[in-house]
Amino acid sequence: MKSVVVKQAGGPEVLEFEERPIPTATQNQTVIKIHAFPVHRYEVLTREGGSPSVKFPRVIGVEAVGEVYHPSKTSQLTAGQKVITFMGGLGREFDGSYQEYALVPDSIIYPITYNGTWTELASYPETFYTAFGALKATRLQKGQSLLVRGGTTGVGMAALVLGKALGLRVATTTRQSDREPVLSNLGADEVILDHNDQLQTSSKYDGVIDMVGVPVVVDSLSHLKNGGTYTLVGMVTGQWVWKDFDPFTNLSNKYATVYDSSQVDGHMVQKMFGLINQNHLEIPISKVFKLNDIQEAHRYVMKKDRPVGQVIVSND
Ligand SMILES: NC(=O)c1ccc[n+]([C@@H]2O[C@H](COP(=O)([O-])OP(=O)(O)OC[C@H]3O[C@@H](n4cnc5c(N)ncnc54)[C@H](OP(=O)(O)O)[C@@H]3O)[C@@H](O)[C@H]2O)c1
Repeated sequence: MKSVVVKQAGGPEVLEFEERPIPTATQNQTVIKIHAFPVHRYEVLTREGGSPSVKFPRVIGVEAVGEVYHPSKTSQLTAGQKVITFMGGLGREFDGSYQEYALVPDSIIYPITYNGTWTELASYPETFYTAFGALKATRLQKGQSLLVRGGTTGVGMAALVLGKALGLRVATTTRQSDREPVLSNLGADEVILDHNDQLQTSSKYDGVIDMVGVPVVVDSLSHLKNGGTYTLVGMVTGQWVWKDFDPFTNLSNKYATVYDSSQVDGHMVQKMFGLINQNHLEIPISKVFKLNDIQEAHRYVMKKDRPVGQVIVSND
């Protein structure tokens, strides 16, 4: 089988191809035939050496969709069953999705009912799970209003469509006015322009989910109603520490939390796919690559002017 191995940190050229034997299932690890996986900007950071917990050589890639090839000795799964796998150390502590087959602990394999293509299925697992978890953390009720800051991120678009399916009124943002129709077509009730880290509105919302992070936290909190919850999910700007943050001015009568998708709950995965299937939820796919073009996929995912949407690699 073909694997893409990072042996040392660097540019896209460190994504090296290697022929390896297909792994053998163990007592509690199943072999998955990977049909597709998404490429994330934070995996580019990992490739560059920016994820201290990832030791090279490593096959990176934190999620995959595919079928059970060889179940573990104790697994309830059967060969050919449609599954997704994500997080739990995949592509970080052990070899991940940038290959044709992977040996994965049973504890992070989720059987899924889904009728679309493998490429479409690959756009959901971690991106939708993060959005779903963030929505739960934001504690909104049907009919309440949600602001999604960083609305054209994958997680932002997933929060928009899941939020609508849960009966919320959803406002969402972009820095680029030509992207507004994409968000309206996904069902946004309001699309707000983000100009120099200031939202071009004076409206306030019952909850805020923020993918942009540090430079906009104060502005995002200023659009949260008293008693509302602000959930920080992403840091697209790469800044991690809130400096000069005045909690008495900015957080008075409001609640703030951070959502982190590293602990996956299998019941929540099933509930989320129930919502996806019932409401035919989807977000755009920007481009599909083949595994042979993984270096190009890493260059593409970082492009500023590319069409909005997920970047997927298909093994089929
Ligand atoms: N907490 C968790 O468990 C978790 C899980 C998954 C992802 N994340 C994080 O969530 C964030 C989104 O991830 P993703 O993969 O969905 O992102 P993505 O699709 O790669 O996001 C790309 C978009 O980010 C926006 N953007 C980039 N720089 C920006 C800036 N300085 N200010 C405002 N917007 C900016 C751009 O939108 P416009 O140009 O249209 O404004 C761009 O289209 C990342 O920080 C990621 O690390 C967190």
